[in-house]
Amino acid sequence: MPRLLHLDSSADLDASVSRELTRLFVDTWRATGSDHTVIERDLHRSPLPHLPDAALHYAARLRTGTEWPDPAAEGLQAELIAELTGADAVVIGAPMYNWSMPSSLKAWIDYIHVLGTTVPFDTSDAPLAGKPAVIVSSRGNTYAPGSPGEGTDFVIPPLVQVLGTSLGMSVSVVTAELTLADRLTPLAPFADLAAESLAAARDAVRNLATSLAR
Ligand SMILES: Cc1cc2nc3c(=O)[nH]c(=O)nc-3n(C[C@H](O)[C@H](O)[C@H](O)COP(=O)(O)O)c2cc1C
Repeated sequence: MPRLLHLDSSADLDASVSRELTRLFVDTWRATGSDHTVIERDLHRSPLPHLPDAALHYAARLRTGTEWPDPAAEGLQAELIAELTGADAVVIGAPMYNWSMPSSLKAWIDYIHVLGTTVPFDTSDAPLAGKPAVIVSSRGNTYAPGSPGEGTDFVIPPLVQVLGTSLGMSVSVVTAELTLADRLTPLAPFADLAAESLAAARDAVRNLATSLAR
């Protein structure tokens, strides 16, 4: 029974581009078979508390003798990690907020990136190695090569670092740019590019969902 974990983090509940694209991924995934299930976690509607204790960054056996995190926080962390390890693939809506990811998504990362549990550390266990992760990032401006914004995207690189480099997941990235072209006058000349970017993102999402659901 192929299972998808679907995460959203946009604070826009009306016209979010990342939500539209992750929904398209989910719908495409579901359409590939009636046995294809989806676990939904909306990190904006139901925000996680910020990581309450640094000890949660380490597996229990790697903690010092004075580190005793709150069992409730440990339980939440275990639930989030089980959701991720139990999924066959994960799709993550990751809008750009002030050049970085929404704090709601960062909180999730802080819970699931754990030395000795999800991060191979003192053993060779790598429970997430090879698991597909699809990052769907939306941003108002452009960060394309040659643009003034080039090199200032601090959403995708840290997500790729954590999920791909550190956790060993198989990461794909879909980006929709210039989403504010219809809202901010200085970006209005880029409306055609924005439409092209969104169309390409929709195609990429459909293709990835179809191939990963097989
Ligand atoms: C709090 C906030 C901060 C933002 N910061 C940036 C930014 O630094 N760069 C940018 O290109 N767009 C920025 N935007 C625009 C969003 O990236 C854009 O609206 C994007 O489409 C949001 O994703 P969503 O449509 O899924 O909500 C910001 C929007 C908000 C609400």
